[in-house]
Amino acid sequence: MDKMEEESKVSTDVCSLPSWYSKFKEVTIETKLIHLSMDFIQYLQSDGIVLPKGCELPAHATEGRCDSNSDEDGSDWDDEGSSDAMRPSFPQLVKTIFESIQELGGSVFPKLNWSSPKDAAWINCDNTLRCTVPAEVVLLLKSSDIISDTIASLIDKSGQDSAFTLCLRKWINVHPSGEFRCFIKDKRLIGVSQRQISNCYKHLLDSIESIMTDISCFFEDNHISNKFPLRNFVMDVYRPCKGSVLLLDFNPFDKAVTNPLLFSWDELNRVAPVLPELRLVDPSSGIQPSQSVASRLPKDAVDLATGEDIHKLVDLLKIQKKTED
Ligand SMILES: Nc1ncnc2c1ncn2[C@@H]1O[C@H](COP(=O)(O)OP(=O)(O)O)[C@@H](O)[C@H]1O
Ligand SMILES: [Mg+2]
Repeated sequence: MDKMEEESKVSTDVCSLPSWYSKFKEVTIETKLIHLSMDFIQYLQSDGIVLPKGCELPAHATEGRCDSNSDEDGSDWDDEGSSDAMRPSFPQLVKTIFESIQELGGSVFPKLNWSSPKDAAWINCDNTLRCTVPAEVVLLLKSSDIISDTIASLIDKSGQDSAFTLCLRKWINVHPSGEFRCFIKDKRLIGVSQRQISNCYKHLLDSIESIMTDISCFFEDNHISNKFPLRNFVMDVYRPCKGSVLLLDFNPFDKAVTNPLLFSWDELNRVAPVLPELRLVDPSSGIQPSQSVASRLPKDAVDLATGEDIHKLVDLLKIQKKTED
């Protein structure tokens, strides 16, 4: 492993939620950390979507899914022709997930180490990562390419079965205009960007000073730089209202993995400004395309991923079912 690879491994490790959660518990969203066994990881990596025993989708969810997924013989989402005896069994894990969801108020946002299954949100009825039962958590993890890549890189890195941690975070209704990405270089806050750059939020333009004061105070008062083990890193925060800031996530200060949003990595790597700069989308500068449009995914894939066109999804599932038969 060369020096750059080594550095990037360290920064991914320390940005993994289980690595930083206990240090920043008071300023972030309440989270339950659940160790995952190698058997369960192998199940996540296996083909097909057969849910484990005792893992049932709520009635409202299966109604929606059965309408769109059942074929003429009425077979539905999670049996794929397999009998109950053939379903895998992880009773202790299912129970722990169930209890954690209850303790976190009834709905959660799932992550595996540092990744959320955001590419699979379309599979949930409301097109979000909100889960209220263990089956929704398992279905999201099993359907996500991001999660499968994360598993592959964790296996490469450590090969140990202690490496996999399911993180269930209490669900909060995040308003995208309150999300900001903060860039920290040599332990100093150098830039803050609006997180969702496909929209212009006019009310933010009138609050530039208070946004910067809130974020800078949050950063200084909580000694983020002293507590976080890297000199350079990226921090995502949520500011639901004036005077209130919550830590959401840490990301590597690395152009290969972290989107610089309204900055460029060239700018961020140059000499740091004396005072941190806040960048917002303003109506005159034009609005940025959304990430799926910017990456030029075919429109069908975008419609599928956003759940815009349910008929395309039905067609896709029918083709998939035929291929499997
Ligand atoms: N606890 C939560 N409840 C609801 N939405 C959340 C929660 N945590 C994060 N989000 C939303 O999901 C987005 C991605 O979260 P993040 O933890 O950064 O995942 P990733 O690292 O996979 O991008 C956030 O920008 C926020 O909009
Ligand atoms: Mg993140």
